[in-house]
Amino acid sequence: MAESRMNPVSGGSHEHEIAIESLLDERRHFPPPPAFAAHATLNDPAIFARAAADPVAFWEEQARELDWFEPWHTALEWDLPFAKWFVGGKLNVSYNCLDRHVLAGRGDKIAYHWEGEPGDTKTITYAQLLDEVQRCANALKALGVGKGDRVAIYMPMVPELPVAMLACTRIGAPHTVVFGGFSAESLSDRINDSQAKLVITADGGWRRGKVSPLKPNVDDAVKMSPSVEKVLVVRRTEQDVAWDASRDVWWHDIVPQQAADAAPEPMDSEDMLYLLYTSGTTAKPKGILHTTGGYLTGVAATHRWVFDIKPEDVYWAAADIGWVTGHSYIVYGPLTNGTTSVLYEGTPDFPDAKRWWSIVERYKVTILYAAPTAIRAHMKWGRAHAQHHDLSSLRLLGSVGEPINPEAWMWYHEVIGGGRCPVVDTWWQTETGGIMISPLPGITTTKPGSATQPVPGIFADIVDDKGESVPLGEGGYLVITKPWPHMLRGIYGDPQRYKDTYWSRFPGKYFPGDGCHRDEEGYYWLMGRVDDVMNVSGHRLSTTEIESALVDDHRVAEAAVVGTPDSLTGEAIVAFVIVKGSTTITPELGEELRAHVAHKIGAIARPKQVMFTPDLPKTRSGKIMRRLLRDIAAGRPLGDTTTLADATVVETIRDASANAKDDD
Ligand code: WT7
Repeated sequence: MAESRMNPVSGGSHEHEIAIESLLDERRHFPPPPAFAAHATLNDPAIFARAAADPVAFWEEQARELDWFEPWHTALEWDLPFAKWFVGGKLNVSYNCLDRHVLAGRGDKIAYHWEGEPGDTKTITYAQLLDEVQRCANALKALGVGKGDRVAIYMPMVPELPVAMLACTRIGAPHTVVFGGFSAESLSDRINDSQAKLVITADGGWRRGKVSPLKPNVDDAVKMSPSVEKVLVVRRTEQDVAWDASRDVWWHDIVPQQAADAAPEPMDSEDMLYLLYTSGTTAKPKGILHTTGGYLTGVAATHRWVFDIKPEDVYWAAADIGWVTGHSYIVYGPLTNGTTSVLYEGTPDFPDAKRWWSIVERYKVTILYAAPTAIRAHMKWGRAHAQHHDLSSLRLLGSVGEPINPEAWMWYHEVIGGGRCPVVDTWWQTETGGIMISPLPGITTTKPGSATQPVPGIFADIVDDKGESVPLGEGGYLVITKPWPHMLRGIYGDPQRYKDTYWSRFPGKYFPGDGCHRDEEGYYWLMGRVDDVMNVSGHRLSTTEIESALVDDHRVAEAAVVGTPDSLTGEAIVAFVIVKGSTTITPELGEELRAHVAHKIGAIARPKQVMFTPDLPKTRSGKIMRRLLRDIAAGRPLGDTTTLADATVVETIRDASANAKDDD
């Protein structure tokens, strides 16, 4: 089954200009295991045709899986690019996530197995979660928060985080969750843009055995954010914190004292549910706006389909709730489906690299959803950690956040999944709200490195510079061609930026900003952000494929590739490479890796230079910041580094690259 074939570099005799060339040809494929398919929630491919025949009716069918206080009168109002779904319908998100399960007699079912980094644990049932959410909702009201008021949430991964989010939805106050790793300034920017009235935080969170302070950052942020009236503080790490008695309130002094019933506010389907800020090309972050009925319909349906959710599953999305993955697939999707989830506070390598696998074993996790960057870190640490634990409970593996290189896909499949678990590589964005392109594990034959096909009810295409659909077997720009219920409704306060960013490049189509190749069988291979595409001697090459080829060498742990100006070829390829622990760096190794890429992809893709580095600059969500690597490669001063997870890495890489010799 495992065979991979190289493609000769294409000529240039194409009838239209090729937007992005694809040179890597991965031929391994994995049909759904028959035993898995036999019990899968979805195992009839007819669902695709049914959705395509009448997409709006299909999504209405999904919306009926929710509990509505009042039905909608119009399923979709589409005033391009502004969509309204299930217009006139009224519902409450917390009611759908909690009350309806408790009312159906499932109150004792576990909603979250929570585990703190120090090893403390808590089991929370649906009934307990509902109780706590109602008390918190009453506390929010007591603190002056009403329907429509924005609440900023800046917390570690403790149970109070989903409680706070659900309490906001119960009273109709949109939340904006700010990842706990962001600085006071980033927090303040987001509070100011959303004009939040209340901040919910904690004294701190645990990270690699140390307290990562939160309250001090809130104190600094609030000095720059006059909209904030109150700060609600969970006690987690118990260090001393500064206290402003006129503004600050301990969670334990107000929440438990409240009445445990708070009627769910009936919300309009199109009322704002939350804002989630994501960085754009300019410094000002974009407040991605999601609304209520369509969003919940989309995340619940995609969670059911893609993860094949069954009542007895123990599902673990090992992400932070501060990202959209956490919103859609730790909180709203799983709870709407009444799923039992694992919620883990800390880092994957604390106290050691066995932590994740110990969690899988102890809670008998059946479905694991993780990011390629985490999978590659585990590869680097070695398979022994996983092999030390019983992972036989796992039946399905998911990936999200960036393209997963075939090497990491295979490792995940074999070492973690024991060769028996389907792998679902899910492509989506903060803006799309939920999974857009992904295998359905009981139906789709997967290919390592491909997100495969749009899910039912989602319609995509690959287009060239002119916006024309490219034939199968070619690369170009990914676009989404029809509105979908969980799509963003805009950028908060900036409709023009919404139009410019997503709808102006290809009129009438949503442009996510990603390059993509579609093979002869119509499979989608994501090729990274188009801003990262390199132009070498007139060939537009994706970073993803060259990085995949590098990581394919057993000595390479991680690689990032960028283009740097070159008088001869326009751009030349520079590869930044992290080697695995046991490997010694030699000039020959650089040569061998260059040759390996040339062999695997073609001479055009041979990096001009390989730089060995101990680390790579990443955003706090684990995405490589190629922009900074381009600056380093070109010897330019560095641009904005404020979103870096670790600001010291660029200096380390610079030092390493200053010592590297140009091997051409
Ligand atoms: C961007 C969105 C999706 C939730 C977490 C990230 C990249 C995401 C994949 C994938 C290839 C992927 C894209 C996308 N991306 N998933 N499976 N294969 N690329 O959300 O921070 O909004 O980032 O992440 O470039 O546009 P986000």
